[in-house]
Amino acid sequence: MAENVEPGSRPRQAVKLAASVLAADFALLEAQAREALAAGAAWLHVDVMDGHFVPNISMGPIAVRALRPLANETGAFLDVHLMIEEPDRYLEAFAEAGADILTVHVEAGRHLHRTVQAIKELGVRAGVALNPATPAAALAEILPDADLVLVMSVNPGFGGQSFIPASVHKLQQLRRMLDAAGSSAWLEVDGGIKPENAALVAAAWANVLVAGSAIFGGPHSIVENVAAFKSALGLA
Ligand code: DX5
Ligand code: ZN
Repeated sequence: MAENVEPGSRPRQAVKLAASVLAADFALLEAQAREALAAGAAWLHVDVMDGHFVPNISMGPIAVRALRPLANETGAFLDVHLMIEEPDRYLEAFAEAGADILTVHVEAGRHLHRTVQAIKELGVRAGVALNPATPAAALAEILPDADLVLVMSVNPGFGGQSFIPASVHKLQQLRRMLDAAGSSAWLEVDGGIKPENAALVAAAWANVLVAGSAIFGGPHSIVENVAAFKSALGLA
């Protein structure tokens, strides 16, 4: 893995893998999530899609609730990515269901600062996400309040899409902005992440890598897929 010496001088947190259960077999959700965690994924990433903010419909609070006992047992975070319009309406439901982190899109509501405060008032960590066409600068004012920044490296809505290369520059920009703000927020990247580009995004200062199809899909087992990430990241 690349040396963690630039930018800024703050020590970097170890890179974590967040397994996106959107790509799991839903008839085997708990078992496959358990396998990914046992193999070395640190978090479970839950993609919530409403058919409005993104064209697809996926899962809601009941999926978070279903995974909560496994998260308690293993210490994994439930990293809930809300791809929904006006997310304020559902924050309480996801907090009650057991989310550890609630990430909302800057494009999805009118009052991001209010939404972030509302998440924190529920006792949950607050993340903010950017679509590929939204510049890093859109987060300038909210960065000091964010516990996590999520850079979408595909257009949200579907698993299995190709990584957008310009995301690398956006990660670098956001890492510099976080350092300048004195923030130790996680910098997460989501979409098209594979063992082949994991070191690239880690070298661009992402420290949480979301992967769905590269963990739960393809011809290899979940254990082999997670092992490929660990080896690519020098974690094996
Ligand atoms: C896309 C979701 C992603 C998705 C990633 O809208 O936010 O979390 O599950 O899937 P892969 O890793 O297959 O690109
Ligand atoms: Zn996601």
